[in-house]
Amino acid sequence: SVRMRLLLAGAVLLSAAAYYVYLPLPSGVSEPWKLMLLDALFRSVMQASDAAHALGVCHRLHLLNRLVSWVEETEARSCDAVHVTDSTLGGVPTRVFHPVGGGQLKRGIVYFHGGGWALGSARMRSYDLLCRKMAKDLDSVVVSVDYRLAPEAVFPDQYHDALAASRAFLSPEVLERYGIDPNRVCVSGDSSGGNLAAAVAQELGSDDRQSIRFKVQALIYPVLQALDFHTASYQQNQAVPILHRPLMARFWLQYLGADPSLEPLLLTNNHSSLDQLLIGADARSKVDWTTLLPAERRKHFRPVIRPRGSPRAMGAVPQLMDARAAPLLADRAVLGRTPTAYVLTCEFDVLRDDGLMYVRRLQEAGVTATSDHYEDGFHGCMAFSFLPVASSVGRRSLDNYISWLDHNL
Ligand SMILES: *[C@@H]1O[C@H](CO)[C@@H](O)[C@H](O)[C@H]1NC(C)=O
Repeated sequence: SVRMRLLLAGAVLLSAAAYYVYLPLPSGVSEPWKLMLLDALFRSVMQASDAAHALGVCHRLHLLNRLVSWVEETEARSCDAVHVTDSTLGGVPTRVFHPVGGGQLKRGIVYFHGGGWALGSARMRSYDLLCRKMAKDLDSVVVSVDYRLAPEAVFPDQYHDALAASRAFLSPEVLERYGIDPNRVCVSGDSSGGNLAAAVAQELGSDDRQSIRFKVQALIYPVLQALDFHTASYQQNQAVPILHRPLMARFWLQYLGADPSLEPLLLTNNHSSLDQLLIGADARSKVDWTTLLPAERRKHFRPVIRPRGSPRAMGAVPQLMDARAAPLLADRAVLGRTPTAYVLTCEFDVLRDDGLMYVRRLQEAGVTATSDHYEDGFHGCMAFSFLPVASSVGRRSLDNYISWLDHNL
């Protein structure tokens, strides 16, 4: 009968969907089913854009960004508590969140969104909601920066945009225009945005001409180095959504404007083999997780160090050694001049050790650095604090991030 056939077809489709969605996840990760569904959504969108790319329809990033803006972009809409406008700062597009009312000077926050230097926008719903909440809860003016994205823009474009917007933000005229207390300004961002925030904090901290300085830097699961794709966290979480290990290598190559065919080489650590003369012992020690991580994070993992690799890689992509792209490579003296830090890390994130090593190096350089680690967290969780996903660890981390800022900014 028709009914029987429909039921059968339904059952087949459902099990195919379950097969597509199901993913063995490490035990201990927050709300595994939500993460699986998120992953299935990401994977299907990625696969569609890979197919379009292979067919020559358009660049995969263009399709991805088109989809994201179609689903996620919002107008600058004010609410009772926060006045929201789209503007530019230092020539860079921004969305500005200004809390309504109150006579006194406000705190100020420059925020850089994540998305592998290639995706996302200050206009996305999740970032709009995040910055709106920060503005309201912290009585703070929040400037969310729409820096240029790959593939059109490559390093150092994103970095220069982040720096230009930050310098403009810290100018006496802009602070006065927005009614911001110059002694209470912060730079922050998540993932690749955390990378930009860290790089900007280093540059401005070491710039003696800069009269007004950031009081704090708040980095949310930042990406900070590309020399070792086999840190303990890269090994432990290589297949954990939503940031799989190969995807991070691809984001790096896109950001650095490098040949995408170098991906397998990066993933085998062939680019940082011991015969690469461009990488000195000093640089290696800055990303040495065997000494920079505590034993409970190193676990049973062993470093992957190749005696001989592909020496042409470093010559082809020297930016891999540039601290403006990879802030973990900065010298101790540079780190020592950066502001008080908050670094949020997640156990189930390939970038966990980037963040943990940075905390350790900041502390060794004499900077007060708070490490806020989530044992059940996954990469990107804070951006999923809001409905319809409303991740529980996302919500917890968001509340703690805001509470840290409330006490320290
Ligand atoms: C890594 O380097 C080794 C030694 O030169 C080489 O045999 C291997 O093919 C390289 N792997 C990749 C993916 O480039």
